[in-house]
Amino acid sequence: VSLRPYNTFGLDVQARYFARFASADELRQLLALPLVQAANKLILGGGSNLLLTQNFEGVVLKNEIKGLEIISEEADTHTALLRAGAGESWHGLVEYALDEELSGIENLSLIPGTVGAAPLQNIGAYGAELQDTFERLEALEISTGALRVFGKEECGFGYRESVFKGPLKNQFVVTAVVLRLHRASAPRPANVRYGAIQDTLADLGIDATEPTPRDVSRAVVHIRRSKLPDPAEIGNAGSFFKNPEISQHKFDELLARYPTLPGYPVPGGVKVPAGWLIEQAGFKGMRRGAGGSHGVHDRQALVLVNHGGATGQEIRELAEEIIRTVGMQFGIELHPEVNIL
Ligand code: EPU
Repeated sequence: VSLRPYNTFGLDVQARYFARFASADELRQLLALPLVQAANKLILGGGSNLLLTQNFEGVVLKNEIKGLEIISEEADTHTALLRAGAGESWHGLVEYALDEELSGIENLSLIPGTVGAAPLQNIGAYGAELQDTFERLEALEISTGALRVFGKEECGFGYRESVFKGPLKNQFVVTAVVLRLHRASAPRPANVRYGAIQDTLADLGIDATEPTPRDVSRAVVHIRRSKLPDPAEIGNAGSFFKNPEISQHKFDELLARYPTLPGYPVPGGVKVPAGWLIEQAGFKGMRRGAGGSHGVHDRQALVLVNHGGATGQEIRELAEEIIRTVGMQFGIELHPEVNIL
């Protein structure tokens, strides 16, 4: 089976076996098959954070568990719990919440991928992270078929991190996510900390003093469309690298050499934008391969793109070249954010 339709880089690699599941029970049945038990397994959501560098000699299991439901209302906190099947599209969930007049995830509009993949890397953008509204998730343990509930603490969320990328990697399949969202009846100030949201609201002619969740969503969608390539048109997996954290001392040293270096304070140091480093190293908009098959996006240097016909191996080599070059120029080691397989 070609995995091309199932990864947003649009890479044409083959999987030996492929199956879909639409419920936890179907997944349990698949996992009980001797063939599946013996094989390497890849659980796939939207394939939007994945670089496939070779054919997969195992079983791909595609999560298609659906369902969007408000499962409880809490009058005293003016919140509601929204439960979503892991195979729902993330942006579909954002739209559903907006329609139901629930706020809290509007800053995360238009992030590609599925609900089930969101907690794995604690998706974040424009001043918000999944963990801000996360209540719990349900996951099926691959070795036993048992369903387990993980509260927020147990998920070990960090910047683009969770326990499911670390100690529990490949051990659980997320089947549902429950979020705690805010009711419009108790207006909560919009999260417009991220400066570009305010500028964009103004550009769109929206009153930026009291934007509605829908307004914020519109602004975020506008920003994303202007900077990030649409995977339906140009293959990509969003940010390819994480933004590195360096010590204050190292930051001050670099600032002396590069006065325009941006940085955001974090506990223990400063986070610097990898996109800036990659742009300074001269990679922005560059193309490699036959006919310029792949390269670095021309409006956001943190995004590697497949213009058509590139292999995952080629994209990996470009990523390695970027890591080497940025390492030599700035003494900073970049780490991939996408899963490389
Ligand atoms: N910058 C450059 N050149 C570039 C790209 C960025 O100089 O080519 C500079 C910008 O000028 C700005 C800074 O880097 O000063 C930050 O840029 P931006 O706001 O575009 O965000 P980012 O740090 O590059 C992160 C996330 C994105 C998320 C945006 C917005 C990571 C790895 N990436 O990117 O997430 O949408 O912030 O919050 O943290 C993703 O994870 O796939 C993703 C797109």
